[in-house]
Amino acid sequence: MMDQTPIEELTEQQAGKELAQLAMDIAFHNARYHGEDDPLISDADFDALVRRNTAIEERFPELIRKDSPSRQVGSKASYKFAKVTHSVPMLSLGNAFSDEDVSEFLARIRRFLNVGEDRSLALMAEPKIDGLGISLRYENGTLIQAATRGDGKEGEDVTANILTISEIPRTLKEGAPDVCEIRGEIYMSKADFAALNARQEAEGKPHFANPRNAAAGSLRQLDSSITASRPLRFFAYAWGEMSQLPFEAHSEALEWLASMGFPTNPFSKGGASAEDLLAVYRHIETERSALDYDIDGVVYKVDDLALQERLGFVAKAPRWAIAHKFPAEKAVTVLLDIDIQVGRTGALTPVAKLEPVNVGGVMVSNATLHNEDEIARKDVRIGDHVRLQRAGDVIPQVLEPLLEKRLKDSKPFAYPTHCPVCGSEAVRENEEVVRRCTGGLICDAQVVERLKHFVSRRAFDIEGLGSKHIAAFHSDGMVKSPADIFRLKDLRADLETREGWGAQSIDNLYAAVEERRTIGLDRFLFALGIRHVGEVTARDLAKAFETLDALIEAATSETALETLAEIDGIGGVVAVAERCPQKPDRGANACALR
Ligand code: IVH
Repeated sequence: MMDQTPIEELTEQQAGKELAQLAMDIAFHNARYHGEDDPLISDADFDALVRRNTAIEERFPELIRKDSPSRQVGSKASYKFAKVTHSVPMLSLGNAFSDEDVSEFLARIRRFLNVGEDRSLALMAEPKIDGLGISLRYENGTLIQAATRGDGKEGEDVTANILTISEIPRTLKEGAPDVCEIRGEIYMSKADFAALNARQEAEGKPHFANPRNAAAGSLRQLDSSITASRPLRFFAYAWGEMSQLPFEAHSEALEWLASMGFPTNPFSKGGASAEDLLAVYRHIETERSALDYDIDGVVYKVDDLALQERLGFVAKAPRWAIAHKFPAEKAVTVLLDIDIQVGRTGALTPVAKLEPVNVGGVMVSNATLHNEDEIARKDVRIGDHVRLQRAGDVIPQVLEPLLEKRLKDSKPFAYPTHCPVCGSEAVRENEEVVRRCTGGLICDAQVVERLKHFVSRRAFDIEGLGSKHIAAFHSDGMVKSPADIFRLKDLRADLETREGWGAQSIDNLYAAVEERRTIGLDRFLFALGIRHVGEVTARDLAKAFETLDALIEAATSETALETLAEIDGIGGVVAVAERCPQKPDRGANACALR
């Protein structure tokens, strides 16, 4: 992360600018995490952004933006599923990162309720499951609707998919209130996650980064037979609308949920002081790596529901609960090499090749070094011992070199100024941190990555044509551009000579390609892999223009920037001056489309 001005030294103008940037960055990472199940940064880095935003807002409350991340929960519901408005909003939790934060949380509650230290206050501690929140609505004892959290107010209707999960009862036991909304976490076990990834690999499909993404990806399938083939599980820990409340405390609620047939977490435990809660936290932390599911902290909740009610909510989170997050897991190993990978848009990305090391139960041999500036700033050198961090999710990162172990003859890493694949010059435009290969379509790496993107799940999604196949077809000269995929039919003889391609699988491939000859404009635009045109922007454009011809006409006209910037989600929202040198007041997306 970049060096930051201490909050107390920020001028009002700097604060305003930074809040605008943070709103945009947080919205972006939120969309990657919740909307696309594909996070780019670790939870720890994301939390740091949110904390910085909160701290600036605390110092400059008059600068709090309408679109401030502190006013929003999660990400907007995806467009694929019907929307469900939650009758009781699904909120998120505030975070505690240290023992002091936990003491402060308890002190705050006591102050608010006016309960002195002489009186006891019952709390519950339970694991924070790293999955995705769900709300299950039962009417007259029967499950009638299941919705994801979405933005907290509105989620997605995933009823058909939830019905494939055997751990979730379809009917409640005798005596349940007429309306029961049971809430909890959908997750995938670590073992099932490993098996799913092995299957993905065998089928030439992309890996899921972690069990949470795998669970999210599996639940958000339009085809529920796919969800059915992915073992998902559930823990109940909360509720929404209830026509009658058959319990008076969280501990009683957990017992009631279990009696109704819901799985509840066995580690939930009561406590009355910070010491008690921290003891449960440490116990759960020691069990963490042995558990068959990912957890990312411990949630503390006031037990008495009447007190919860009095405590109420602040902004998007309850005052009566907090999530005490686990610190990221660290380890030291040797940096064997720095690999420079070339992405779809030509971006050079440094990847640390490491002597394999166990970081919190997972073997790690690759880690991210972020970018050229980070390597220079940290002075990371090949041969160094480096400290790694894995934050229970996404790619592990290199934190720092251990200077005391540095070899005498080591040299600073010279970042390439030319593309390691095609040899074209690699440049940094407009003071971007990313250096990009200027080879465009003469660069094999860019071509292959574009092809992989073109056939990927959220783009053309051609069944049986995964990234490995497309890379092999490209390297053998069979597919040079996306259009060639639709001409594979002419290459039957070549295909038949390839290992693993029998008559049946070739027929299947052809059928799958035919099926995608017509696809939605949004998917098509996304598949082109234009910089700044992600899934959301592609969708906005498709909505605004409806046909490719209309879009081309608008994008090539004299007044294109103005026209595009007028569209919801394209212009103003993403207007970042340095990304659009020709028109600093216009959006990056509008520029990219030109
Ligand atoms: S209670 C009103 N308990 O964490 C508060 N949430 O960061 C309702 N989560 O949206 C949440 N384990 O999806 C609660 N034991 C637990 C949890 C838990 C995981 C998730 C949940 C929530 C998110 C907040």
